Amino acid sequence: MAETFPEGFLWGTSTAAYQIEGAVKEDGRGPSIWDVFCGLPDKIEGGQSGEIACDHYHRWPEDVALMRELGLGAYRLSTAWPRLLPEGRGRANEKGFEFYERLVDAVLEAGIEPWICLYHWDLPQALEDRGGWQNRDTAFWFAEYAQSTVRRLGDRVRHWATFSEPNVASVLGYGEGRHAPGIRGRASALKAIHVMNLAHGLGVAAIRAERADLMIGDIYNFHPCEPASECEEDEIAARMLDALWNRSFPDPQLLGKYPEPLAAEIAPLAAPGDFDIIKQTPDYFAFNHYTRMRVCRDPDHPFEVGTMPPPPGAKVTDMGWEIAPEALYAVLLEVKERYAGDLPVYILENGAAFADSVDADGQIRDADRIAYLRGYLGAVLDAIGKGVPVGGYFVWSLIDNFEWTFGYGKRFGLVHVDYQTLDRRPKDSFHFYAELAHGAGFERE
Ligand code: FCB
Repeated sequence: MAETFPEGFLWGTSTAAYQIEGAVKEDGRGPSIWDVFCGLPDKIEGGQSGEIACDHYHRWPEDVALMRELGLGAYRLSTAWPRLLPEGRGRANEKGFEFYERLVDAVLEAGIEPWICLYHWDLPQALEDRGGWQNRDTAFWFAEYAQSTVRRLGDRVRHWATFSEPNVASVLGYGEGRHAPGIRGRASALKAIHVMNLAHGLGVAAIRAERADLMIGDIYNFHPCEPASECEEDEIAARMLDALWNRSFPDPQLLGKYPEPLAAEIAPLAAPGDFDIIKQTPDYFAFNHYTRMRVCRDPDHPFEVGTMPPPPGAKVTDMGWEIAPEALYAVLLEVKERYAGDLPVYILENGAAFADSVDADGQIRDADRIAYLRGYLGAVLDAIGKGVPVGGYFVWSLIDNFEWTFGYGKRFGLVHVDYQTLDRRPKDSFHFYAELAHGAGFERE
């Protein structure tokens, strides 16, 4: 039996600047920490980088045409800070602003609402050279960048987010060292968490000072943490990873304090008044979700946490991530209870990588991705049925792109990209999603 999503439900897709734009040295863009990190040996699969990526910087008209064909209600993009302020602060790069103005205008012209995220991990290298997210000043520079961007685009973009997954940027970038800028340590991760929280608060205030009519939030990531065994050390590790991964941003931003068991350790990093800055009432509540995590103790990790592969027989994506729509259902219920209340809730990333292939007839028959989306959308409907005010769902991602340390090997797109020719080709999942976005009934199987 076909089911329907609520009236006005927003169907979207998400991308990030560094993962699709390319043109890293063009029109005055400054280097970001990801340009530098990708140049280091053994950091990225196959030594790849976002130097060309999907060449969206030049091919955006084609990508906007695909969005229009999909029938999207919204498109979430990120602005590249180093394209707008090449040194991270001070001098603005007019050509960078013009690029986003043209893009946003074309998206609007296609009848699609652009949503902008200001930080999807591409810190200007010039700021990293001054300590990056371990330097409190970066929070103030972020607020200046946010304000200048809203000054230029706030007349046509209504929905703004400060960060995408600040937990990933801080924990992988400054804790595990697996992401740019590649710093490993416990103190560095905690410092980055606090400075990013401060940046969020200062950023929201700066945006509101610039314009009072915008919808502003942050984009968290929630991956439920379950202990891999019943032994106490795994339970301790699961509580630690839950605090670090799932709560170290929404807790201070909505509840005004850091979560246990991290609170006492982060507290000394806060200056008087910081929590008043960090806790800002958002206009919507947004998060990304892909999977759940089985957590064990890893004595070599800065926080003594590790993850185990899913149990044998579990269904997984090409990332090895367990497919478990019930985890999204649980997150949605918890989010309403703990943080969002009556705020509209948006899932701003959900999707799956699979090893897609182009058949002899040119089709990409990604039935596994369609099944993934069906499962997770079913969970969204279930949560709506329980009273969670979910306002929209955004697939990661519109097109295949540069998947950070995995390079181009992991394909998340509704549209296939041939990295030799940069040709775009809609997959079967594109047509599946287009039908939903055009108002077709939803079938679970
Ligand atoms: C998320 C990131 C996004 C993409 C997906 C697969 O954590 O926000 O950029 O890498 O994972």
